[in-house]
Amino acid sequence: MRHWAKGGHFITLEGLDGCGKSTHVEKLAVFLREQGLEVVTTREPGGTAIGERVRGILLDSRTHGLAPLAELALMFASRAQQISEVILPAINRGAWVLCDRFTDSSEAYQGAGRQLGVDAVLTLHRVLCLGLQPELTLLLDNDVAASVARARRRNLAAGGLLDENRFEQENRIFFDRVHQQFLAIARREPERVVLIDARRPVEEVHNDLVAAVRERLLPRQA
Ligand code: TYD
Repeated sequence: MRHWAKGGHFITLEGLDGCGKSTHVEKLAVFLREQGLEVVTTREPGGTAIGERVRGILLDSRTHGLAPLAELALMFASRAQQISEVILPAINRGAWVLCDRFTDSSEAYQGAGRQLGVDAVLTLHRVLCLGLQPELTLLLDNDVAASVARARRRNLAAGGLLDENRFEQENRIFFDRVHQQFLAIARREPERVVLIDARRPVEEVHNDLVAAVRERLLPRQA
């Protein structure tokens, strides 16, 4: 665990598409604010005016035609801006930062999913993120099927660019690799990453997130 000068904290939530991260970021923020803490919530890619423009490029086009390495570079461009503009100023003034996705997502999606390699991602992280690590990462674990279903809905909304069966098969293989890498990160860094089963009702999952934060970061009396 790392302590910033004024008691700020940096927590990330990670997981596959459709695991409920956004809901849980908001619920955790409400809980922490009830403890009288200043909380900043943000997301990646995005989170700053410049980052949201980068997000537009990454997500609006659904990355069609975007080279995998360009995708990786844009993820880090958004992140570097977010660190400089939001994350570091907030933790340095003593706030709690809750970030919806961070470098673990790049490792899982670009490193493993797009097979660009974990080393490339971690090297970029060292250079572009100044090695900044979350103190705590809450990994919401769910089934690949939920991510494929969500991707299918997006594909249909975008006009169904790919044939259904091919889409389903390609996405299953892709999300399997992403899933496996998230689990590998949790095994590699148990002191930072807490694995939480997100297949359960929202309140149960939320209680586990709160328990992890209490255990790892909140003072005993909170
Ligand atoms: P979003 O609609 O925010 O999905 P979710 O709510 O599931 O987070 O889209 C973010 C997408 O970007 C998601 O598919 C994961 C992907 N992503 C990467 O591929 N690499 C990254 O480094 C990050 C931060 C996100």
